[in-house]
Amino acid sequence: MPLGNTFPLNTRLVVVMVGLPARGKTYTARKLARYLSWLGYRAHVFNVGNHRRRISGSQVPHSFFDPDNSDGASARRLAAESALEELHMWMEGGGQIGIYDATNSTTARRLWVRQHCERAGMEVLFIEVICNDPSIIEGNIRETKLTSPDYVDANPEAAVADFRARIAHYDQAYEPIIDDRLHYIKIIDLGRQLIINRIEGFLTGRIVQFVANLHTTPRPIWLTRHGQSEANVVGRIGEDTNLSPAGVRFSRNLTRFLNDRVGDSISIWTSTLKRTIQTGQALGRPTSALKLLDEIDAGVCDGMTYAEIQRTMPEDYAARTEDKLRYRYPRGESYEDVIRRLDPVLLELERQRGPILVIAHQAVLRTLYAYFTDHPREECPHLHIPLHTVIELTPKAYGTAERQFRLGPGIG
Ligand code: SIN
Repeated sequence: MPLGNTFPLNTRLVVVMVGLPARGKTYTARKLARYLSWLGYRAHVFNVGNHRRRISGSQVPHSFFDPDNSDGASARRLAAESALEELHMWMEGGGQIGIYDATNSTTARRLWVRQHCERAGMEVLFIEVICNDPSIIEGNIRETKLTSPDYVDANPEAAVADFRARIAHYDQAYEPIIDDRLHYIKIIDLGRQLIINRIEGFLTGRIVQFVANLHTTPRPIWLTRHGQSEANVVGRIGEDTNLSPAGVRFSRNLTRFLNDRVGDSISIWTSTLKRTIQTGQALGRPTSALKLLDEIDAGVCDGMTYAEIQRTMPEDYAARTEDKLRYRYPRGESYEDVIRRLDPVLLELERQRGPILVIAHQAVLRTLYAYFTDHPREECPHLHIPLHTVIELTPKAYGTAERQFRLGPGIG
């Protein structure tokens, strides 16, 4: 049976990470959980290292990980069991995609995990993260491990030496996946090569596409709403009106903002609505207009003010106030619809390696911002995305750095 065939509601999938330390497993696991949660799945990461720290303490020496150290091996086994048990309980409570984040670097360990999951009626997908590029490994060691709870207060050079010795222990016993009966994805050197085996169905297809686009090259993603529009001035939602004079002034400020920061190499995306196109035109650079970035479709409410909606459509007004994520404007869209529509845009944003400016609309930017800043879906329709403000997001190994720049009168 294809994996994830029961899309979307009855999914019970365990994604098992595989690979040596410092290859980017935790990065991949966390990004994947964030993406799947954004899409609407109940997804969560279960990290064996956290259980090991709870059971054996965080300051264990590298010899703890030596495959010939039987005490270390039993303690590590306990941590693996404890994390899998936590995952199992969470799935029993309604979880849909549990990501089991550990090295799982031997065939025996993977067989144990798979049997445990399958006995409990959960499907298993392995993601093996392989990295042969010494500069990426070195970067991972320095950027993530030195800030790990394992090395709090440790001398950085001693920590790096200890961690390298830990990797060598794992390397000694490492067995890559070769069993072609398993469902697996192998990511080699951050997406330089991707090997997929027995992957079919919607959900695992989404997972493959997502992980194929991940990388850790730092680059700014700038999100901004269009300059103030004529409809904004009178408080009407939707419509396709021109920029107001204040909106035009913002587009000039945005030009200065960009010119101060980038040369020619930037991608600029707008929606197909006049107010974003006019904001983009002022920049004097090539732009691409994407229909996917158009504002939430307010259906029959397009062109109305919120006060008019409340007066003439009180039931709709109340339903929207009650559940803004799921409420769909009659003949229009809900925020959930917008999330689904933006899925390809999100993958493209993850794929881009250079600076990018997205000039779009409030609901659209709330949705993208929620993903990058790890806000739960429910909060997405309530996030504050003011007019005339550029939000700078820089995705990093753990989370996204954020800065905001006010470029004009605070409106909206
Ligand atoms: C750890 O203890 O940090 C990880 C254990 C493992 O995944 O092998």
